[in-house]
Amino acid sequence: MTRPQNWGLDVSRRSLVGAALGAVLTVPTYQVLAASSKRPLLPRPQPLPPGRMLTAQRGRFPFLLQGDGGYGYNGSSPGPLIRVRRGEKFRVRVANALPVETTFHWHGLVAPTVFDGQPQNPLAPGEEREIAFPIVQRASMNWYHPHPHGNSAEQAWHGLGGLFIIEDEEEAALGLPSGEDELFLTLRDIELGPLDKILYPADADGTEGRIPMINGVVYPRVLLRNRQIRVRILNAANARAFNLTADAGMTLIGNDGGLLEAPVAIERVMMGPAERIDLILDLRHVAPGGIVVLKDPAFSEPLLQIEVVEGAADPWEIPSRLSTIEKLVHEGDEPDRLFTFQGQSMINGQSFEPKRIDFATPLGKVERWRFRAARGGPHPIHIHGTHFQLLERRVERERIEPWERGWKDTFQLVHAEQIDILIRFNEYEGGYLLHCHKLEHEDGGIMLNFAVGKDPEKALALARSEAMFGSVPLCSPT
Ligand code: C2O
Ligand code: CU
Repeated sequence: MTRPQNWGLDVSRRSLVGAALGAVLTVPTYQVLAASSKRPLLPRPQPLPPGRMLTAQRGRFPFLLQGDGGYGYNGSSPGPLIRVRRGEKFRVRVANALPVETTFHWHGLVAPTVFDGQPQNPLAPGEEREIAFPIVQRASMNWYHPHPHGNSAEQAWHGLGGLFIIEDEEEAALGLPSGEDELFLTLRDIELGPLDKILYPADADGTEGRIPMINGVVYPRVLLRNRQIRVRILNAANARAFNLTADAGMTLIGNDGGLLEAPVAIERVMMGPAERIDLILDLRHVAPGGIVVLKDPAFSEPLLQIEVVEGAADPWEIPSRLSTIEKLVHEGDEPDRLFTFQGQSMINGQSFEPKRIDFATPLGKVERWRFRAARGGPHPIHIHGTHFQLLERRVERERIEPWERGWKDTFQLVHAEQIDILIRFNEYEGGYLLHCHKLEHEDGGIMLNFAVGKDPEKALALARSEAMFGSVPLCSPT
């Protein structure tokens, strides 16, 4: 098992420290540590070694006093970081060592239906499967997580999730901060009971925890040099949106689908569940010994404390032009499809049925899709297997935020809003999912199946025959 570096206090020693502090102050350990200079060090995610299997199993969180409350991929939460290059074939053997069904979904990846880890194609306890598909998309930060029918929320809450990085030549040529100057942050929230055991207070309207966690650690700190730092953030929470600010300059350079066209300075960013952002945090003007914090007003203590140390002169230059983004175009203002999100369980008056395929959309054609939140927002809406562009937002906020530009795969629809997107599927005919990424809403039925095909009618018939699901052979366990 690979252990993240920088554990900070070792688990057993922390237990003693925690027990002693807890006994005297009757305040949870993490709260005491958050307010002190003794915050645990932020673990950096460890890469999945080539050829290694990815197993969903019971796991450990660095902060847990008892190791039995969590799940993790290869025993850790977040799981190992997967890194691939555009054009290469991604291959991994996945295994389910949980006592219940699960799936491995590659969020943000353009993948053939049979490898997409959809609920129709579960892995039973003890089963293994070989995943293999080519990486056909640009550099971006994606992630993998469970997607079993009706049980995604519980599994993700207990810790299943990991980052999936795609690199390409365009991005490499930019010379963005890397190595020690690149930080991967998986944000989420949690509830802990006695002895820091994970509690899951399931709420059909989206479970939120009172305790923030980054890379599996509650209220961590990190040492960084006084340079420009590339910070790549995933909101892996079940339902919470994070509203982030930092007391150093933040420049947004990318989001779900990769780099934006040009960097843009921002003061805050709002991230719904499953959204990603890529930014440059400028620490060049912070004196060594200084502290910079990442904050969310929902929490009294900063989520992350950055302790700035002296480094050799900043070697990074952020180009003023990052990429070129094709602008999708569509004739006319009328939407091709309308999706109304209702309460905690329905889209257009219907709850998810694994076997019901609602419509088919033509491969290669740009469509305009309209989303409305009738009740129960905000809904972070996610569509599998492609990227799209937000065109307009009406009613509440009216505007498309800087972090909603470029290519997206998930966006936040708040109560009473209407958002139009332009979308196109370029690669695979097959079965796709559209759903709310508040995981309890997803499990509750705010999800639908649709098909993509050169001939939509045929695609619909094929999808309805179920020929596209469950056809991946299982491997015999090794
Ligand atoms: Cu991140 Cu269908 O999920
Ligand atoms: Cu929702």
